[in-house]
Amino acid sequence: MEVELLVKNATIATASDVILDQQIAVKDGKIFLLGKDLSNIVNAKSTIDAFGAYVTPGGVDSHVHLHQDNAPAGDNFETGTRSAIAGGTTTILAFASQKKTDESIIPVVEEYHRRASGNAYCDYGFHLILSKPNATILEKELPTLVKDGGISSAKLYMTYARLKLSDYEVLDIMNATRKLGMTTMIHAENGDMIEFISEHLEKQRITGPYSHALSRPGIVEDEATYRAISLSELMDIPLLIVHMSQKTAASHVRNAQTRLLPIHAETCPHYLYLTSTRLKDPGDSGFAGAMCVCSPALRDDPMDLEAMWAGLNNGTFTTVASDHAPDKYDHPQGKKAGLIDGKGHFRKIPNGLPGLETRMPLLFKGVLDGRISIQKFVELNCSNPAKLYGMSDRKGTIAPGMDADLVIWYPVEGDKKMGSFALTNEMLHHDIDYTPFEGTEFANWPRYTILRGKIVWDRDGVGLAGVKGDGQYLKRGSSTLSKPRDIWVNDWRPS
Ligand code: URP
Ligand code: ZN
Ligand code: ZN
Ligand code: ZN
Repeated sequence: MEVELLVKNATIATASDVILDQQIAVKDGKIFLLGKDLSNIVNAKSTIDAFGAYVTPGGVDSHVHLHQDNAPAGDNFETGTRSAIAGGTTTILAFASQKKTDESIIPVVEEYHRRASGNAYCDYGFHLILSKPNATILEKELPTLVKDGGISSAKLYMTYARLKLSDYEVLDIMNATRKLGMTTMIHAENGDMIEFISEHLEKQRITGPYSHALSRPGIVEDEATYRAISLSELMDIPLLIVHMSQKTAASHVRNAQTRLLPIHAETCPHYLYLTSTRLKDPGDSGFAGAMCVCSPALRDDPMDLEAMWAGLNNGTFTTVASDHAPDKYDHPQGKKAGLIDGKGHFRKIPNGLPGLETRMPLLFKGVLDGRISIQKFVELNCSNPAKLYGMSDRKGTIAPGMDADLVIWYPVEGDKKMGSFALTNEMLHHDIDYTPFEGTEFANWPRYTILRGKIVWDRDGVGLAGVKGDGQYLKRGSSTLSKPRDIWVNDWRPS
């Protein structure tokens, strides 16, 4: 039997198992066979020796902003997905965002297809962002997008004037997503609290980058998280709360899960590693902290970070995503939009951090540091996002019949171990002029990234080996993790 690729001496890691001394045969872009000694059965066109290292599924980054209209100094599909494969991510879910003036979302989705098509280095799908629901969108367009378009998830915002929905509108959308079996995602921050504090800070002329954190204390996320959970309980729908950063907000999720509500949560590497002291960076006359302005804000209290790590282990978090939402720092429409006449204006600093390429290595660092198991690593970064967003028929694990999306790491010991290094932005493949993880020490990194059987990243060889256009659009189905339970708060049912 002829196969394209045989990976030898692999320690296969899945969300449940670590299996030593495995071989992986890849045929027609799919995993064909796994076993101890396949060399007698298959004849491989090429072979990789993993030297006993972990081989994990390709990363699935389910929260990525590329080519967004509000981020002219950000990444597009080419530069973003290029950085994805160099960091072990083979699938991304990006956002097709409705503006409040868009009365139809079909043309919005078509536009995002144009932006991505032929430009992606990794496989991709879209979530919708719904900022202004109407009957046509909810009753006619959403069913078409779910059934024909393979878009089975939508993100809703409780903050940002240009995106914010009222609770009424959230309920209206939840009613529609429930009927269609969509996964609903929510950005849970209390927009009015943020607006009120921000206006006061401005009047008080306290406007440097750290004011961003002052305007978003933990209670902003805590309140909105509890409210979002309540709205989803009222509508009997599964919900994923995106980019969680805060301890008491996470405890609301955990309480809801204890009550068996289908509440899921996501956190991001920056909420595991960075605190708000970064916003006080004295560099560049005190403006350098703008590099770490994101929402929710980085937290002051290291106990919030500890709570995020605990939540990875105790099941509170279903997924880890990058929330890659970058803007160049030294660019008039990037972070420096918030620097006017030499003075920082936090409300004009675009929100968001680059992180697509560093997500998998930073979480693998968590494995090496003993903070999470390798199985948890796979579950959070690969398997669960594939299941939650309806693509676990192809993505997220290592098993015969699955897409051959693999990351081959370096062995953690022995002479083939990677020499550790301190990260610099020049090593990364995004189109952004900084990384918040500059100087972070890494003792491992993807040695190879394989997308549907093709080597697209070869760290010790050519580096980037994939080409623009390798990535395919993914039509997705419903979540295989949770669905409505038909349990309601009283005898009332929505129509
Ligand atoms: O600061 C962030 N996260 N900006 C990106 C948009 C979002 O809310 O995810
Ligand atoms: Zn968000
Ligand atoms: Zn609370
Ligand atoms: Zn985001």
